[in-house]
Amino acid sequence: KIPVIIDTDPGVDDVLAILLALASPELEILAYVVSFGNTDVNAVCENIYRLYQAVGHQIASCPEDKARFPNYAPDVPPILALGPSGPLQGNRHLARYFHGRDGLGNVSESHPDLNVSFEDKYDAFRANFTTTSKSAVQVVLELLQSREERSITYIALGPLTGLALLMRQHREVVRKRIGKVVIMGGALDVPGNATPVAEFNIFADAYAAKELLCPDSPADGLPLERVILLPLDITNLHEIPFPFYVERVDSTFESTRKPSIASNKQPLIHFSSAVFERTREVMITFGKDALELHDIAAVWCALEHPPDPADTEDDLPCMSPGWVAVRRKFDIERAGEFTAGMLIVDRRIRAQPEQHPHTVDPMDSNLLSAQAEIDDLETPDSD
Ligand code: BDR
Ligand code: CA
Repeated sequence: KIPVIIDTDPGVDDVLAILLALASPELEILAYVVSFGNTDVNAVCENIYRLYQAVGHQIASCPEDKARFPNYAPDVPPILALGPSGPLQGNRHLARYFHGRDGLGNVSESHPDLNVSFEDKYDAFRANFTTTSKSAVQVVLELLQSREERSITYIALGPLTGLALLMRQHREVVRKRIGKVVIMGGALDVPGNATPVAEFNIFADAYAAKELLCPDSPADGLPLERVILLPLDITNLHEIPFPFYVERVDSTFESTRKPSIASNKQPLIHFSSAVFERTREVMITFGKDALELHDIAAVWCALEHPPDPADTEDDLPCMSPGWVAVRRKFDIERAGEFTAGMLIVDRRIRAQPEQHPHTVDPMDSNLLSAQAEIDDLETPDSD
């Protein structure tokens, strides 16, 4: 199993990414480190409870679904640690315009049944998570020290503040012991989403991203040969068209599966449909009737590319067929009047030094075949 630490700010796509992690037998979820980002840090933490509550209800109403979530309720539950509430420097920017005030499309108001009561929270916490009074930095440090060197994958799905704080305090341990770092963030050759030129996770703490990915001296940042960055260039292309989702939900209700006792719907479908209500409206105003699977792509990448202790510093990460890692040279704008959080990509043709993060090439053939499958599903057979 690949031991993973998930640094996250749920977040609509974050909860789906966590669902994928819960459903992936290849992973062992050691810890969630929650960060400000899509909304404030306490609200994103609440959303992890909401998700776990929905998965718990799903399994209670359809016990056979326990097998679909092998990482739900393991013998040793993941640690849940509260991370940073704001960036290293500069103003705090949240993505409530997209994810809603509560980070999940305002379900706290539209679907109060998805809220977690104080008693449930207490029980859920004790049952689903390992409690700790330690800081997020301390939790991650101890995990890195307790596991085999270079065995842990760190999956970063939100602003990079927590990882930057860890690096500032324990640089040598991180550089020596971390396995892979998979980061959803940045926009290389496509427009941004938080601003015309910046992707949200980098925009929310450009100082942290700069320290980690484009340090003044290579020895100060992350071990870039073990970093995989998934920018909007590739994550924008992975999406669930909402009409496709609705069609699948309708066909599920027509199937023989038992509906949930609580809501006359399967709890997880109820949860996702509630979260998607406002999200779909917002996406339509952006001109797209689909949900982009940014953070899910990062969990998928972590599954595809486990750390390999045999990797040498010079190796490219071992890519499975169809995935191409290319090193791109870029710097990160921190305080530009219009360009904060922008990746300034060096596209000049000259020898590219090696110390740059790998990014996943969007012309990836897996992606193209996945898109072809979706196209097939959408195109009715013609005789
Ligand atoms: C990223 O920003 C957040 O809003 C999403 O959760 C994702 O991590 C996409 O730019
Ligand atoms: Ca996120």
